[in-house]
Amino acid sequence: MRVVLFTGKGGVGKTTTAAATAVQAARAGIKTLVMSTDAAHSLGDALGVVLVTAPDDPAPVTEIEPGLSALQLSASHSVRRSWRSVQDYLLTLFKGLGIDPVVADELTELPGADEIVALLELGKQVESGPWDLVVVDCAPTAETLRLLALPEALAWHLDRLIPAQRGLLRALRPAAAAATGLPLPGVQVLDTLRRWHESLLEIQSILASETTSVRLVLTPERVVLAESRRTLTSLRLYGLAVDQIVVNRVFPDATPSDAKVLDVTSSGSNSSQSGQESTHTAWLAGWNEAQQRGLAEVRHSFDPLPIVIAPYLSHEPVGTDALAALAKARTGEIGDVLMTAPAQGMTVRSEDDGYLLTLPLPLVTAAEVDLKRRDDELLVSVADHRRVLSLPSVLRRCVVAGAVVRKGTLRVRFVPDEKLWPVNERESVARE
Ligand SMILES: Nc1ncnc2c1ncn2[C@@H]1O[C@H](COP(=O)(O)OP(=O)(O)OP(=O)(O)O)[C@@H](O)[C@H]1O
Ligand SMILES: [Mg+2]
Repeated sequence: MRVVLFTGKGGVGKTTTAAATAVQAARAGIKTLVMSTDAAHSLGDALGVVLVTAPDDPAPVTEIEPGLSALQLSASHSVRRSWRSVQDYLLTLFKGLGIDPVVADELTELPGADEIVALLELGKQVESGPWDLVVVDCAPTAETLRLLALPEALAWHLDRLIPAQRGLLRALRPAAAAATGLPLPGVQVLDTLRRWHESLLEIQSILASETTSVRLVLTPERVVLAESRRTLTSLRLYGLAVDQIVVNRVFPDATPSDAKVLDVTSSGSNSSQSGQESTHTAWLAGWNEAQQRGLAEVRHSFDPLPIVIAPYLSHEPVGTDALAALAKARTGEIGDVLMTAPAQGMTVRSEDDGYLLTLPLPLVTAAEVDLKRRDDELLVSVADHRRVLSLPSVLRRCVVAGAVVRKGTLRVRFVPDEKLWPVNERESVARE
C-alpha cells in the first residue's frame, strides 16, 4: 500500500493539496483513503462534506465518492485518555530524576494525543484497510516532525522503561520503588506502554518503508521557503523519503513558462487607467516578481527533487470537483502517485580500514550538525532536531574516526576499537 504524507508551514495549503491529490487518484481508479492528523474538521471543509464522527467508532470512514473515502478522527478516542495517563507517568518519572538532559529534552517534546491517535490509526489502516493509497494531511511542520520522530523516540524510552519481567516487577513493586526511588508504572500504564511499543515499531517500519513518502507543500515566499528548507533536512534526519515539492498558490504570471512581468511604468502612465487600477497593477507586478524570485529559489534549493506548481485559483477550492480541477491545473514533474521514491536512508559499507556510515542531510553544513556517541547509539542533531541512530552491531565495537558533511550527506567513519576487538576476531569479520 502506498502512503503519501503532506506537510509544510501553517496555512500553505496542505489540506487542500492532500485532498486534491486524493480526489484525482480516486478518479483515476485508485482506491484511496484520505485522513488528517488534525482533529479539527478542515479536511471535511475542503472536501465540502461533513465527515461523520461516531462516539462508538473512534475512526469512522466516510465514502465521499466511488473509490474515495475519508477518515475523521474522533475527539473522544479512547487512546487520548490512556495517552494522558502514560504521559503523566513519564513526566513524573523523569521530573525528579537527575536524568540525561537529552532524554529530559525529548520528554518535554512528547507529542499530544491527536498525533498519537493519528499514527496508530494510520498503522491500522495500512495493516488492514482495503486501500491502494493512503493520503495523510499532516499538521503544520513542527508537529509533524514530532509525530514522525515519535516512534523512534518513544520506542527508545520504552526499551529502557519496560522491565522485561513484568511479574517480577509486580511482586517487587514496593521494594523496587523504595530501592530506586522511582515511581513504578501502574499495571494499566505498563500494559498501554507495551501495546504501543509494538504498534509504534510497526508504524516506524511503515514510515521508513519504500512505499511511504512525504511531499512538502510551500508557497513561493521567503519566510516559507526558509522553513521548508529546514524541514527537508529534518525529514531526512528522521529517515523519511521526500519525493516531491509542491509550490502552491502560484500566480499564473509568476510561472517561468510564461514569465512576463507586468510593466508597471507603461501601464501606470496609461491615461485611461484610474489611479486605483495602476496601484493595483503595481501591487500585482510586485507579487509576480517576488513569486518569480521565490520560484527560482525553490528550484535552486530543492534540486533535484521533482517540483510541482499549483496555481493560485480565483476562489477557494472546496468540494471534490473544485479539488479535481486544482489537481488537473498543476504543472511540473507531477509523476505517478503510486510510484515510490528511491531509498534515502542511512547506509553502512565497509572500507579499507573500517566502515563508512552515510545519512543524507540535504541543505546542511558541517557546522550545523552535532554528533554524539552514546554506547550503542549515535546521536545526530541538526538545529533543535535530534535522531538517535541505533548502530548496527558491526559498528558497536568501533570508534568514530571522523565525520564530514559532503554534498548534502553526512559521512561518519568508524574504525575498530583496538581495546574491544581482538585482532583474530577482526579477521574473522573481514572474511565474512
Ligand atoms: N491553490 C489555491 N488557490 C486558492 N486558494 C487556495 C489554494 N490552496 C489553498 N487555498 C485556500 O487557502 C486556505 C488554506 O488552505 P489549507 O487549509 O489547505 O491550508 P493548510 O496548510 O492545510 O492550513 P493549516 O496549516 O491551518 O492546516 C483555504 O481557504 C484554501 O481553500
Ligand atoms: Mg490543514
